[in-house]
Amino acid sequence: MLRSSPLKDRTIALGVTGGIACYKALELLRLLTAQGAQVHVLMTEHAQRFVTPLSFETLSYHPVLTDMFAPAAEKTMKHIWLAEQAEMLVVAPATANILGKFAHGIADDLLSTFFITTRAPVLVAPAMNPAMYQHPRVQENIAKLRQQGVEIIEPEYGRLAGPGEGEGKGRLAAPERILARIEDRFCPKDWQGITVLVTAGPTREALDAVRFLSNPSSGKMGYAIAQAAQRRGARVVLISGPTHLSPPPAVECIRVTTAREMYDAVMAHLAESDVVIKAAAVSDFRPQTTAPHKLKKEEMTPTLLLERNPDILAEVGQRKGNKILVGFAAETEAFMANAWKKMERKNLDLVVVNDVGNRTIGFGSDENQVQILYRDRRQEELPRLPKSVLADLLLDRILPLLSHPSREGACPQIS
Ligand code: CTP
Repeated sequence: MLRSSPLKDRTIALGVTGGIACYKALELLRLLTAQGAQVHVLMTEHAQRFVTPLSFETLSYHPVLTDMFAPAAEKTMKHIWLAEQAEMLVVAPATANILGKFAHGIADDLLSTFFITTRAPVLVAPAMNPAMYQHPRVQENIAKLRQQGVEIIEPEYGRLAGPGEGEGKGRLAAPERILARIEDRFCPKDWQGITVLVTAGPTREALDAVRFLSNPSSGKMGYAIAQAAQRRGARVVLISGPTHLSPPPAVECIRVTTAREMYDAVMAHLAESDVVIKAAAVSDFRPQTTAPHKLKKEEMTPTLLLERNPDILAEVGQRKGNKILVGFAAETEAFMANAWKKMERKNLDLVVVNDVGNRTIGFGSDENQVQILYRDRRQEELPRLPKSVLADLLLDRILPLLSHPSREGACPQIS
């Protein structure tokens, strides 16, 4: 069974206040509805000067609430209904004005009244001129809201809206970042109390100061798993080869370059881990010698002498104990036969089989199509999925293995 988005059918109130970043709220709305959320938009009077309610109505498929004193009884009832039904209030962008009203309980329009009426958790994404954002009154209001349990999604550094105004902190957080924080809040915390060690990305084996052996792994799969596990409450140690990705927030990330460095990092964190997920594409060989300088052509021979790197996963398999071990099998041919052999050879609980020959999935792409092999010889074929969705799905498959009776007492508290 495929897991659906944690936002599916959630009722979310989206408050939009007046600032140039209003147009980004449309993108946030689009992302939320794409995840299946039911979004009801409340716009302040100033927000309507930047973007029309019709745009939000068109994207949300719901009427937009703008006026507390709207004549139609239906409209007045709607905001009371929403205050009771909303499972979250998200305000993006939030001006200095609305922060001040929220912090001091001033309720003089629909959104500020809604804030003190609803009991739903509140996420606020401020956006304003950097000088305003840094003003002590604004910072005091933000501190006060945090104390009251409101989650603040900090603005970002960037160019200001006006021509020639330079840079500063005040830009609305990227809609994807706001979406991630909303998803976090709705995610089940079913991995709480579990420590997961994830490896990701390629390793590099230097031939000289500027050349190396490696592979095209982007690290996306491992990072997606790390993020999903962290979101679901796990403590995550991510051991990453060289990638361009930023580690997910609250994940302990250890950067390594070579297979031997990855080996050392994995072994150093093995004892504390309940689950080890080895999504990294480790170089099996390294050059026998590494020159500290750039080799000149004349110094090189047409034949490279290589030596074996440690097989990290096989080594972990030998010291497995009660841990759950998940390996990836990157194959281009005889998929299943090779993958079953890897399971035996490396003593794994689960193998994720990847067709790395197909460049539209696997290495570097945002999607992946895999088969999962289980120790009891079951085999599951999954459809092509975004790596973020696949990550959650793998965690769904691993969780029951952790609570297997043979592991009783091995894992602290699984709720
Ligand atoms: N792996 C590892 N250390 C290595 C090589 C691989 O830990 N030196 C891990 C990978 O992270 C992956 C699994 O082993 O989870 C399988 O990797 P893969 O490259 O598919 O297989 P290999 O074991 O390298 O075997 P082969 O190259 O013969 O397919």
